[in-house]
Amino acid sequence: MIEITGLTKRYGSHTVLDNIDFTVESGSIVAVVGRSGAGKSTLFRCVNLLERPTSGTVRVDGQELTHLSRGELRVARRAIGTVFQSANLLRRLTAAQNVALPLRFLGLTEEEIHKRVRELLDRVGMLHRANHYPGQLSGGQRQRIGIARGLATQPSVLLADEATSGLDPETTGSILRLLTGLRDDLAVTIVVITHEMDVVRSVADVVAHLDHGRIVEFGRVGDVVRRSDSTLSTALLPDQPAPRPPAGEVVWQLRYQEAAVDPSWLSRISRELDTDIALLSGLVETVGGDHAGRLTVRIGAHLAEDKVVHAFAAHGIHARMAQAAGELAGVPS
Ligand SMILES: Nc1ncnc2c1ncn2[C@@H]1O[C@H](COP(=O)(O)OP(=O)(O)O)[C@@H](O)[C@H]1O
Ligand SMILES: [Mg+2]
Repeated sequence: MIEITGLTKRYGSHTVLDNIDFTVESGSIVAVVGRSGAGKSTLFRCVNLLERPTSGTVRVDGQELTHLSRGELRVARRAIGTVFQSANLLRRLTAAQNVALPLRFLGLTEEEIHKRVRELLDRVGMLHRANHYPGQLSGGQRQRIGIARGLATQPSVLLADEATSGLDPETTGSILRLLTGLRDDLAVTIVVITHEMDVVRSVADVVAHLDHGRIVEFGRVGDVVRRSDSTLSTALLPDQPAPRPPAGEVVWQLRYQEAAVDPSWLSRISRELDTDIALLSGLVETVGGDHAGRLTVRIGAHLAEDKVVHAFAAHGIHARMAQAAGELAGVPS
């Protein structure tokens, strides 16, 4: 479990992290998203105390890290594994030797180290590459070795900064499955820093949006996608480009969690509004473990906007009128 309170980091007069509070429960995956320069990597370095916060506290499994001495920090840091974008493996060492590095400082025997390295390589599916050098491995394989090394000290927390950036979608998927396996089998608490919404959609339980050093949105992914006035929600489930409606009709964008709505909602709302609802496009995606739907529909323009919004809201569906005809995405006026 990670508990951060009032975390501020300044470089001179430049405030990079501004009074951040957030908690990550044990055995969950939190994604930290935000544009470049938002402060994500600084947050990462403050959580593992590679960087001392200017003020605030960082607790990992109940232990406050900001007041520890160097020596105490070295020990405390074993509870925190880190994985970087390019895996940062040492080129002159084999995969097994890279994974063994953090174990050299634990006072284990050669035999114990050997056994543990094999277990770790097996865990990440890389046992067959134990004696390969980084230069002989693909980007995804190097990242697996980086994760094995991050897990060497049996940390309860794993921090991954852009660990899948630059990997192709298939490799990204396999790395993400590896991370969810660690959460599910070993109850590791995982923080993934990413700018890829696909990563958030597929693995995150919780998402935090960092903007100019502040957390501007935070919540369970399944809840966030349901919020109506949320930048993250739109980023996670972008609206489909809507076609221009015929005269007398309006295009609406709907979003909902499948588990939260009655399967007969479409016909019910149609009856309640006493109008036809024409389906234009739709997509159901798994987000935060729930099936999230977004639909584009067409409804008669004679109905008042708030009446339509309320009718959908009563069934747990967020409805938003698409832009006026002519301004619709992809449709030149
Ligand atoms: N060591 C440092 N000294 C001064 N400024 C820094 C340092 N590290 C990061 N910054 C500044 O902090 C801001 C956030 O950087 P960073 O945390 O790397 O953002 P992100 O990872 O979200 O792209 C940037 O404006 C960056 O220039
Ligand atoms: Mg960064």
